[in-house]
Amino acid sequence: MLILGIETSCDETAVALYHDQHGLLGHCLHSQISLHQPYGGVIPELASRDHIRRLAPLTQSLLETTHHTYADLTGIAYTRGPGLLGALLVGSSFAKSLAFSLNIPALGIHHLESHLFAPFLEDTVPRFPFLALLVSGGHTLLIHVAGLGQYTILGETVDDSAGEAFDKTAKMLGLSYPGGPQIAKLATQGQAGYFNFPKPMLHSGNLNFSFSGLKTHALQTWQKCAIKDNATKAHIAHAFQEAVVATLIHKTKLAVDHTDATDVVIAGGVSANQELRTRMRATLGSHINIFYPRPEFCTDNGAMVAYTGYLRFCAGQTEDRAIQCRARWPISEI
Ligand code: KG4
Ligand code: ZN
Repeated sequence: MLILGIETSCDETAVALYHDQHGLLGHCLHSQISLHQPYGGVIPELASRDHIRRLAPLTQSLLETTHHTYADLTGIAYTRGPGLLGALLVGSSFAKSLAFSLNIPALGIHHLESHLFAPFLEDTVPRFPFLALLVSGGHTLLIHVAGLGQYTILGETVDDSAGEAFDKTAKMLGLSYPGGPQIAKLATQGQAGYFNFPKPMLHSGNLNFSFSGLKTHALQTWQKCAIKDNATKAHIAHAFQEAVVATLIHKTKLAVDHTDATDVVIAGGVSANQELRTRMRATLGSHINIFYPRPEFCTDNGAMVAYTGYLRFCAGQTEDRAIQCRARWPISEI
């Protein structure tokens, strides 16, 4: 079985090949960061147009570098949603047309499910059931994963996602898009305790999150500062990251205690955050196994789509030839 994975849910055009015997054979990615950077965020129409330009050449180059041809493919997995509708339509139209021309099946994959399975591309993998903290640009979820497609949402954000809060706070501080890595970098120069930001919903008694008030708190702190220099920005970045990381860790620990989980998966763009990784390890303790994707597979990529497609093809899943993307698609509805 040789699966081509295609990811176009947002601002990354990405493809990968996954083989049932040999694992991940290769992956290619074109980032649209420089395209959207002048606007401080993703412009959906520009994203769609760029996916159209990039997808075919990227796939061609993936096949060439892995010494394969279109005829070798046995299935195509593409991101069906959630994401930007126009961007999803580009990937799914390409996937479905290619599959039709090759007379092989295509399968639409849930974007968050593919993030969830990204750690399975590493040497040591989690065992079911596991607990997952999914922290991406669009979502913040705590999920109990009993098996493929067996998801129970334990907690989620009631407003902004963690990644969104990073991006909005960064924009407000005049940092470039995407803000997560920029805040993380600047935070290393900030002084611990210089500002103390509230830790949202820490004692809410449930496993939900809220990050939009934190972003407003960061804005108000910045507006009140008499000196608006780089050092002040770094202190704010530090306090902001501290509040997000502490909240994510606190709720994950609660969920671990609640579910008696021994394996914890942390995935999605924000899982690349080094402070989160270091502190999560210290808080959960050595008896809990924590699994992350490698840094390049924390953010959007084709490898996780190809792998999740492989799992679903193995499970016998099929779909018809119609193109049906879902911009909004709760993971509980897969
Ligand atoms: O999973 P992802 O690529 O896209 C979605 O599916 O939404 O996540 C992107 C998000 C962005 O908000 C970005 O700022 C954040 O992940 N991110 C980070 C870091 N790297 C990426 N946030 C905090 N620290 C990082 N090192
Ligand atoms: Zn994503």
